[in-house]
Amino acid sequence: MARHRIDQILSRHGYCSRSEARGWVKSGRVFVAGERARDSGERVELTEVRIDGEPVERPEGILCLLHKPAGFVCSRDEREGANVFDLLPERWSHRNPPVTTVGRLDKDTTGVLLVTDEGGLVQRWTSPRHKVPKVYEVVLDRDPDPSLVDLFASGTFLLNGEEDPCLPARLEITGPCAARVELIEGRYHQVKRMFHSQGLEVLSLHRSRFGEFTTDGLAPGEWKLLPMPS
Ligand code: URA
Repeated sequence: MARHRIDQILSRHGYCSRSEARGWVKSGRVFVAGERARDSGERVELTEVRIDGEPVERPEGILCLLHKPAGFVCSRDEREGANVFDLLPERWSHRNPPVTTVGRLDKDTTGVLLVTDEGGLVQRWTSPRHKVPKVYEVVLDRDPDPSLVDLFASGTFLLNGEEDPCLPARLEITGPCAARVELIEGRYHQVKRMFHSQGLEVLSLHRSRFGEFTTDGLAPGEWKLLPMPS
């Protein structure tokens, strides 16, 4: 098995910086194969490392499903207010690379949000080529006209200011002022813009499904770790 420097293991997994690792080792927080580590530059097998008595967290990578509540942005820009990373363990944001969201939801949108430090997953799950279905429950200011079902499905629907038509989307009218939309792409404010272009305003938006993932069993703000896909 590959061997890595202790300071690299600690910084890669978000415990501390490489320069701080020396202090962690000195103060006896790091053990290797049951022995107190002596040198932060020592090369060791990751599976033998214990930090504060615990194995290294998720060496295979983080994949988390968050039930995003309203009021949190997906960006790390502090000027935009509270962000979804504040709802997750701080250490994940110090990993290298840090965790990021798989696509974005607007501040007022709720529902399924995946968070990972694995860039390949972000690529795979956000590219329209992979056709990952995203399902949104929408509350509108008026009843949608049934003609929108065919318009959304047409593959010719152009959003304001864009040259490429939206890929076919499935629209289901689920009740008074309520609809369900399934998309396989994720353009900026896409659901709101699709309805807005037809004279309807989205009053609330909840992503109930992303691929195979749903918020079932998770209250807003709750999250769970998922196994890394192969
Ligand atoms: N479409 C939107 O308009 N907003 C979201 O947050 C997600 C999809």
